[in-house]
Amino acid sequence: MSTTSPSSEAAAGFSTVADLQRGLASVDYLADDSLAMAAFLALRMGRPLLLEGENGVGKTEIALALAQLLGRELVRLQCYEGIDTSQALYDWHYARQLLAVREGQAHADVFTREFLLPRPLLSALELGSRAVLLIDELDRADDEFEAFLLELLSDFSVTIPELGRIQAPTRPLVVLTSNRTRDLHNAVRRRCLYSWVAHPDARRELEILRLRAPQVPEALAAEVAGAVARIRGLDLVNRPGVGEAVDWASALHMLGLAKLDRQTALDTLAALIKDVDDQQAVVEAIDDVVPDTA
Ligand SMILES: Nc1ncnc2c1ncn2[C@@H]1O[C@H](COP(=O)(O)OP(=O)(O)OP(=O)(O)O)[C@@H](O)[C@H]1O
Ligand SMILES: [Mg+2]
Repeated sequence: MSTTSPSSEAAAGFSTVADLQRGLASVDYLADDSLAMAAFLALRMGRPLLLEGENGVGKTEIALALAQLLGRELVRLQCYEGIDTSQALYDWHYARQLLAVREGQAHADVFTREFLLPRPLLSALELGSRAVLLIDELDRADDEFEAFLLELLSDFSVTIPELGRIQAPTRPLVVLTSNRTRDLHNAVRRRCLYSWVAHPDARRELEILRLRAPQVPEALAAEVAGAVARIRGLDLVNRPGVGEAVDWASALHMLGLAKLDRQTALDTLAALIKDVDDQQAVVEAIDDVVPDTA
């Protein structure tokens, strides 16, 4: 048995990819065409969406934006090394169980739904299409955890030994993200739709800056977008993400600067580059990063 596809209900109001793209823009998220298409299909087909990309390209944020846009609850599972089902799926309410036993229900069954403590995955399954389930940074979890997710990703169900199989009434939208610190299994990939999320080009980054830091004058935002694009072209350990670009533009504006010159760029690198070697690389390339404006 599998849940019904939520296409008619969940994608309501978004009959085209362009509609969804506009909807996302209305909640301040600018998706490029391929990402918007992947999200549209994930909603329409009731399939999980796997997003890979560098730091700060907007992988987590699109799940938040979709939840807001669709009026759904965001259920977030942050993955980490060693995460297991008792943190991700469910645990037992030990105190309550103990109390029940103490109160003389010694023979009562304390492994029933009443004593179950739902964790994010179970909560999302129970909410069904009222939820967006974000499984964030799956590459940080171990192989076993990834294998455990397979049942959930294909059938939208999980099996709890004491209770049996729990099936989502309707499909939640599942968004998985990975920074690619290790490769995910093909078994996971096959169950998902996939999009590689790249850094925006300078034009789109300017649009994002206008949305996310509207207080920054357009001319300064444009200079920031251009400089950030050139900085991303350098050989860096961590290329700055969109969030850093927003921070940088905001910092410059806060300091009362209307123009980006080489000295102000260097003085404010703290807001943009979060690694000492990368800061050095920008210092060395500053003539290319901020072209002559005199
Ligand atoms: N396409 C976009 N439209 C609007 N804002 C964006 C977009 N992409 C990124 N941002 C902004 O950049 C910030 C960082 O994005 P986000 O946290 O989603 O990155 P990420 O890909 O999840 O990074 P990490 O891998 O480090 O978790 C967001 O909070 C948001 O303000
Ligand atoms: Mg993230």
